[in-house]
Amino acid sequence: MDSQEHQSRHHHGPIRDAMAKINYKIAIISGKGGVGKTSVTVNLAAAVRRKDLVVGIFDADVHGPSVPKMVGIRTEMRDILHGSHGIDPVVTPQGLKVMSVALIWPTEMTPIMWRGQYKARVLRQFLSSIKWYEMDFLFVDLPPGTGDEPITIMKSIPDLDGMIVVTTPQEISTIVCSKAINAARELKAPILGLIENMNHYQCPDCGRIEHFFGKDRGARLAKTFGIPLLGGIPLDGQYSEAADSGIPIVYKNPESLAAQALMGIADRLLALLPPREKVVVTKRPWEMERDHHPPKTPDNQKTMERSS
Ligand SMILES: Nc1ncnc2c1ncn2[C@@H]1O[C@H](COP(=O)(O)OP(=O)(O)O)[C@@H](O)[C@H]1O
Ligand SMILES: [Mg+2]
Repeated sequence: MDSQEHQSRHHHGPIRDAMAKINYKIAIISGKGGVGKTSVTVNLAAAVRRKDLVVGIFDADVHGPSVPKMVGIRTEMRDILHGSHGIDPVVTPQGLKVMSVALIWPTEMTPIMWRGQYKARVLRQFLSSIKWYEMDFLFVDLPPGTGDEPITIMKSIPDLDGMIVVTTPQEISTIVCSKAINAARELKAPILGLIENMNHYQCPDCGRIEHFFGKDRGARLAKTFGIPLLGGIPLDGQYSEAADSGIPIVYKNPESLAAQALMGIADRLLALLPPREKVVVTKRPWEMERDHHPPKTPDNQKTMERSS
């Protein structure tokens, strides 16, 4: 066991505790930036959320933390860091629990200059203070690539259930897939599947389908590597509009082709995961305090009136 590995095991305790009640932890990776990894993460989470499951997103992409914008969060996270019991994720109007590395950085403009060891340490400390509590799913948006950085982050998450690879037809390459497979082997987590983003375009007027970058490339690649193809997502103008508006397209335009594709992908993902019992969300002690209405007796009625 090298010292880094030892250190990461040593630090797993508090992170494991923080994530102990999460049923499935899934990381989303890509060969490079701009292929739609973040929008896939957000919409996959939203599609699963629509099934009335408890879902969270951890945005770990230190280079382009764009999850908060895509889910419409503008809260200054510094306000959130004050709680003495830890960091509560921000909950979106759709009920997604979101936490982002962006949120522990002072401003959007601050250059991110994390260095190796320091970076890993800050990340682990951050991960151990997030209060996810009971959740069915946690989706992790990783930095692009299959290099050191995303691997270090994945290693900080104990018992990862698997990873999903997002590519576009242009970018689909055996190199990305073999690197992802190597990473999966190193992490001892399976590749749950491949998602081919922007795989076709359907003209909204005439219905004609265009495959600008070649047809069935994702399917062929998935077959070659023996990993499931979770599905393809069409190029869709409404998709980027929804992302800019801060409402995931599966909520904003559930009828759109992109949303339909994403919901199909979510169904396929759920079908291939080992079944686990749905989480039961219990009340936190301080919430009980807050929500506790003592029965009205003449005595405490007076107390209540006096205190209000
Ligand atoms: N299928 C799609 N159709 C239209 N626009 C898309 C699609 N997928 C992604 N985009 C847009 O492409 C841009 C990059 O997507 P993003 O999810 O941020 O990529 P990444 O996280 O891989 O860098 C965003 O503006 C997004 O809205
Ligand atoms: Mg991104």
